[in-house]
Amino acid sequence: MTPLGIGIIGTGNIAGGYASDAITHPEIRLVAAADLDPGRAAVFAAEHGCRAHASLDDLLADPEVDIVVNLTIHHAHHEVTKRALEAGRHVYSEKPLALRSDEAQELVALAAERGLRLGCSPATFLGEAQQTAAAMIQTGRLGTVRAVYAEVNWGRIETWHPAPAPFFDVGVLVDVGVYPITLVTTMLGRARSVRAWGWGLKPDRLTIDGAPFQIGSPDLIVAAIELDGGAVVRLGASFYVGRPTKLTGSIEFHGDDASLALGSFQDFDASVELGAYGEAYEPVDLVRPGYRGTAWARGVAEMAAAIAGDRPHRASGEQAAHVVEILEAAAISMAEGGRQIEITSTFVPPTLMPWAREAVGPQVDAG
Ligand SMILES: NC(=O)c1ccc[n+]([C@@H]2O[C@H](COP(=O)([O-])OP(=O)(O)OC[C@H]3O[C@@H](n4cnc5c(N)ncnc54)[C@H](O)[C@@H]3O)[C@@H](O)[C@H]2O)c1
Repeated sequence: MTPLGIGIIGTGNIAGGYASDAITHPEIRLVAAADLDPGRAAVFAAEHGCRAHASLDDLLADPEVDIVVNLTIHHAHHEVTKRALEAGRHVYSEKPLALRSDEAQELVALAAERGLRLGCSPATFLGEAQQTAAAMIQTGRLGTVRAVYAEVNWGRIETWHPAPAPFFDVGVLVDVGVYPITLVTTMLGRARSVRAWGWGLKPDRLTIDGAPFQIGSPDLIVAAIELDGGAVVRLGASFYVGRPTKLTGSIEFHGDDASLALGSFQDFDASVELGAYGEAYEPVDLVRPGYRGTAWARGVAEMAAAIAGDRPHRASGEQAAHVVEILEAAAISMAEGGRQIEITSTFVPPTLMPWAREAVGPQVDAG
């Protein structure tokens, strides 16, 4: 296929990861970049061999930009994505799709109305380890899955990120809780209700430069998410606990017949272990050798391939909007002492990648 041109808006911390991974995917080609800070975009463009534009409007006017990749801060996602869709561009956004459920649904509707693709991170379910886990669950190796334990102990962002404020402003569930929520809904389907509780364990922090600030959001959250299929997900997320911990980002799926432990929600080469009930965990071979770490642009490339093949893409706006509704429900529940909040949106879970389906054989429904 002819590669689709991608234009990155927001050339901050994660943009380099996207750019260096993008060159490994023949479906996409980085053609342009822009940022609120044009100097930052210019440095990025020089480093990664693309055009720098002075503004989002200029990026949207670039005829070679087929897909806008929105890597701005959380608070800007909705507005930037909306403007790109209105300009007739497909959009792939970093998470979360929006900060409010109504805004996320607005974007899904706008993309559908314009016949454009809307994709969203996290697409870590496309990783080899995560596809292996999904294949085990879909082939029934665990029996009915009734309990999921997910952990996101992401530590003290201000000790490494030069601009931590937006991360604390949106909070740990919105920033990193989205990863296990997306993975679990990919594997087990939509959520029907949420309860959550939060604590501010260490509100007073220091930036890398030594400036004191208050985090303004809970740094320990425990959420109980009930899925339509009946499984309960117990999710713990923290911006206080970090390395060292044995619970950085692992997920355990417990079924009637067996349990599965996925070592990380984001490392594509994470460990996958399976154990029959009452037995010990045994390692499982991944469906193919795992990419080391996270291939950030894999979701964009998959969307580009889907556009070329005229089929649905996997990291869908609908699922991302469902996840935003879960996050919003968790915030309401936390504010109301853990009251149960019902979830109304839905989505079609992404099918396994062809290479994962082939590796596990015909037990998996073709999708
Ligand atoms: N840093 C990570 O490790 C990481 C990993 C995965 C996902 N993400 C996600 O990626 C996104 C960006 O994170 P980051 O760490 O790169 O943040 P960052 O603050 O380092 O970079 C964001 C960039 O966006 C620019 N920007 C902000 N608003 C803008 C607007 N309206 N128009 C144009 N540019 C704008 C800023 O000037 C900045 O250069 C966030 O949504 C975050 O959740 C980050």
